Amino acid sequence: MKFKMLLIPALFSVSVFAGEQNATAPTTAKQEGIEYIKMLGGALKSQLQTHMEADPSGMSALGFCTAKATEITKEINKKLPNHATVRRASLKSRNEKNAPDAIDMQVIQTYEKEIADKTFIPTDDIKIIEDGDTTRIYKPLITEAACLKCHGKDLSNEIKKSLAINYPKDQAVDFTEGSLRGIIVSEIKKH
Ligand code: HEC
Repeated sequence: MKFKMLLIPALFSVSVFAGEQNATAPTTAKQEGIEYIKMLGGALKSQLQTHMEADPSGMSALGFCTAKATEITKEINKKLPNHATVRRASLKSRNEKNAPDAIDMQVIQTYEKEIADKTFIPTDDIKIIEDGDTTRIYKPLITEAACLKCHGKDLSNEIKKSLAINYPKDQAVDFTEGSLRGIIVSEIKKH
């Protein structure tokens, strides 16, 4: 990892803030980031819902996530300007490509602490991190009842079987409703 781990907590404590400090003049990077987060989150969620409604067993939705989540992420990134990216990450990832980096980890742990301490405010959940010439905009993904079919404690045998084949190192199970499943982050380079 490129970051010097020891420096991050100090850097982090000064640069994390809850987003709405300057409500009359939000930064362009924040607005941009939120837009790209919605593009990725919205695309994945709407298709997931369509598949879940068509096939409540979850198998069609699982096929969709397995085959398309990475592809859709790539397609959306192609549509973004060169100075921007958007991706998902989780401490307990299913797809290893979604493993968090050092800054993601700090943000994830902050969200987890807020949820545990009951200080988490769903309507004020965006976090902004300044990292050199890049602004990171974070949105938490909270586990809902609908996620539990594939990320919960009690998976059907067919879902377990498919996950074992496609994701032998799957860590993204045993989540409960209301816990942090992961984050979406958009990185906006100064331009
Ligand atoms: C039908 C099964 C299914 C459901 C329901 C489901 N997921 Fe997933 N999820 C997956 C699969 C499969 C992947 C791995 C996709 C890939 O290969 O990129 C995944 C990956 C993820 C990731 C990326 C990080 C990682 O673990 O790789 C996040 C974040 C995530 N899911 C959140 C959610 C949330 C939040 C919900 C509920 C709104 C949800 N999922 C519902 C199957 C599901």
